[in-house]
Amino acid sequence: MQIQFATARPDADHVLVLPATASDDAALKDLPGVVKALEKQRFEGKRGKSATAWIGDDGQRLLVVGVGEGEGLDLETLGATIPAQLATSGETHAVLDLSSMDIHADAAARAALGAVNRAWNFDHRTKKKDEEKVTLETLTIVGAPHEAKELWEERYQPLSKGIALTRELVTEPANIIYPESFVERVKSHAEGTGLVVEALDEKEMEKLGMGALLGVAQGSVRKPRLLVMKWMGGEGDDVPLLLVGKGVTFDTGGISIKPAAGMESMKWDMGGAGAVSGAMLALAAREAKANVVGICGLVENMPDGNAQRPGDVVTSMSGQTIEVINTDAEGRLVLCDALTWGQKEFSPKTVLDLATLTGAMVISLGHEQAGFFTNSDDLAEDLIKASKKSGDKLWRQPLGEAYDRLIDSPIADMKNVGPREAGSITAAQFLQRFIEDGVDWAHLDIAGMAWSDKAKPTIDKGATGFGVRVLDMYVQRELED
Ligand code: BES
Ligand code: MN
Ligand code: ZN
Repeated sequence: MQIQFATARPDADHVLVLPATASDDAALKDLPGVVKALEKQRFEGKRGKSATAWIGDDGQRLLVVGVGEGEGLDLETLGATIPAQLATSGETHAVLDLSSMDIHADAAARAALGAVNRAWNFDHRTKKKDEEKVTLETLTIVGAPHEAKELWEERYQPLSKGIALTRELVTEPANIIYPESFVERVKSHAEGTGLVVEALDEKEMEKLGMGALLGVAQGSVRKPRLLVMKWMGGEGDDVPLLLVGKGVTFDTGGISIKPAAGMESMKWDMGGAGAVSGAMLALAAREAKANVVGICGLVENMPDGNAQRPGDVVTSMSGQTIEVINTDAEGRLVLCDALTWGQKEFSPKTVLDLATLTGAMVISLGHEQAGFFTNSDDLAEDLIKASKKSGDKLWRQPLGEAYDRLIDSPIADMKNVGPREAGSITAAQFLQRFIEDGVDWAHLDIAGMAWSDKAKPTIDKGATGFGVRVLDMYVQRELED
């Protein structure tokens, strides 16, 4: 959807969108019949609720959107309601008139963000009925403070592009997005932004001794890649923040194969890599004044004559050996080598990894927030602040010595799974064994958040883009402001 800012409503045909705090809001009183029409629809101005009326001689459509009273203005939801209500309505141009509201430029720009994010869609359907086709192309925002346009173009539109890349990567099926094509897709979105996109291939990873990552990849005909994205917008000598993503482009479970029902959802087991890629694109597109490197371990986890077996012992790049008890606990095997390489190569002070790592995290926190684990109380606090400000919800989880004992192995330095209990925590303990002394690290288990089966007010069902906002906000607050 195209966003425009204007000082007055355009003459061209459009659907008018007005915010309101009640059915008899002052903004509506001059429009004959509208208050009655809204009352008939039981519209009370509640946040996210909307009602329709037709005004003027030629029956112009009016969409009135509730913004609530006293609950804090949420312009993102207001913006999102526009495509949610009108995307396939037949209308092509919506005009949101904010003149009646006393709002900051940031809020107005966020209305645009909400609209663009809610309007985003992606599919491979070739036979849509007319009434299923999207008609709404343009949103013009009128009556916003004049800085809103710049804020949109320089801050929120880049963010929306990052979120869109993540959602595209997550939505695409595994025959289309696999390690090599993942890299190509990121490259094509990054063109012109200055984001440096490179990748290590299988041979290079063999030379580096990435036996854990390669052990997962060996059962697939798709060749693995280690995607490396660099954005050095900060001071030349600042060590970069390191972001690491789990990019299992399809997770069958390998020889420890998953049940058939629902297995198709494992196309989004690259949600962590998707979020890291989207965040890197957003940072580059808005020219963030920070040095950030994103790396993603990209593999496909398949059962095959050459696949690794339960009981195999692999040697990670760190030199630590791992007994692979369950080939379905593959994400940590991919991440551990990516973490080791990233720390060696870039000497970061802070490392954040994102992964759709455990089903146990979905059992713990459902689809409301992601769990995170960290070795630093300061980092925990910074992440929670970024989380609250960005809207990507995070809740801290524990780590500890007693949990760590659960992954000791009699034949190797560790095994890749513990008992059924505390499954998300033992996964995090596994990753912590690859974090170097003095490095502040957090692991975000986004298994419950990368995909939503239900549409929400600000986002349609499907890929959510979770993680991009909190990473972007963390960088802004901790590295830029
Ligand atoms: N990708 C899955 C985790 C997952 C499950 C994400 C459901 C989203 C929804 C991961 O690779 C996996 O299979 N984890 C296993 C670990 C177990 C074998 C210790 C799990 O959670 O069942
Ligand atoms: Mn798995
Ligand atoms: Zn997985």
